[in-house]
Amino acid sequence: MIEVSHLSKRYGDIVAIDDVTFSVDRGQILAFLGPNGAGKTTTMRILTCFMPATSGSATVAGYDIFESPMEIKRRIGYLPENPPVYLEMTVVEYLRFVAKIKGLSGRGIKTGLDSALEKCTLGHVSGRLIGNLSRGYRQRVGLAQALIHNPDVLILDEPTVGLDPKQIIEIRELIKALAGEHTIILSTHILPEATAVSQKVVIINRGKIVAVDSQERLSAQVRKSEKVSFRVRRKEALVPQKILAISGVHQVIPQEADKGEGAYIVESDVGRDIREDLSRTIVTNGWGLLEMKPLVLSLEEVFLELTTQEKDVEAASFSAASHQATEENQ
Ligand SMILES: Nc1ncnc2c1ncn2[C@@H]1O[C@H](COP(=O)(O)OP(=O)(O)OP(=O)(O)O)[C@@H](O)[C@H]1O
Ligand SMILES: [Mg+2]
Repeated sequence: MIEVSHLSKRYGDIVAIDDVTFSVDRGQILAFLGPNGAGKTTTMRILTCFMPATSGSATVAGYDIFESPMEIKRRIGYLPENPPVYLEMTVVEYLRFVAKIKGLSGRGIKTGLDSALEKCTLGHVSGRLIGNLSRGYRQRVGLAQALIHNPDVLILDEPTVGLDPKQIIEIRELIKALAGEHTIILSTHILPEATAVSQKVVIINRGKIVAVDSQERLSAQVRKSEKVSFRVRRKEALVPQKILAISGVHQVIPQEADKGEGAYIVESDVGRDIREDLSRTIVTNGWGLLEMKPLVLSLEEVFLELTTQEKDVEAASFSAASHQATEENQ
């Protein structure tokens, strides 16, 4: 549904995005994850045809961003970083206004309005002034304006920023419910958000894509070994030795455990799933298996691994100390 190929954008000397390539399948949610200044908004503005790329190409719903911007705008709903809502209008007045701008008329306006109000559960506040709504509800209005012409694709720039935890969950649920019918790209710098809502994560840092994948595969990419933790009822001196005999295992690290019990982390070759062999060894030896689970890096750990280098940490502490932290020197 969306194909992005070698896209770059320069603002004078600043390279905002550099050779960005990724794709999104129909009905999928893709999370665009990156720190401030990474190039998320820039990429989204290019895809929504609000701004041209310097080089590269992209197609949205089969249309080229350079050749058919009008076709694309018709098929895309965009929620910018700062939703363009008019505080002095009621929800319905505003959505009608947006519908007209987007070229809907007569019956189209009514259908679009009813469906957007329903999808965003705004029916009960439709007559209220937007300025009097809570932030979460204003964000729903922002989503409703993106949805009103029933676009194939939704581009949502940090849709949960500034919301309280309850509103964040509500907006995420709403976005998940919209997938399938719509193909969605959302940006976020909140790491758990990317996994909570999306099937695919693109991590971008300083304009470059540093990883594209599902969370499991991303963590496989940065880990050097597979890790499984287990706990047994009876701690015996021979446990590490017998586990080390399993093929592919290269380390057994004892952990703290309750009195008499044993807890260990087992490291093995990447790509080798030792759980079956491990459980067989535990059971055969009668140690009493209490718990066993694979250890997966959290997206947060993956993200830091992929986007942070030692010199970044030094630079960050230096700029924090000198109170000169700016986007550009990050
Ligand atoms: N109009 C502009 N003129 C010059 N530089 C710009 C302009 N817009 C963005 N940039 C620069 O391009 C880079 C990427 O910015 P962008 O807004 O795309 O990042 P972002 O990932 O959306 O960040 P944030 O999380 O802060 O929203 C930054 O270094 C930014 O300073
Ligand atoms: Mg941004």
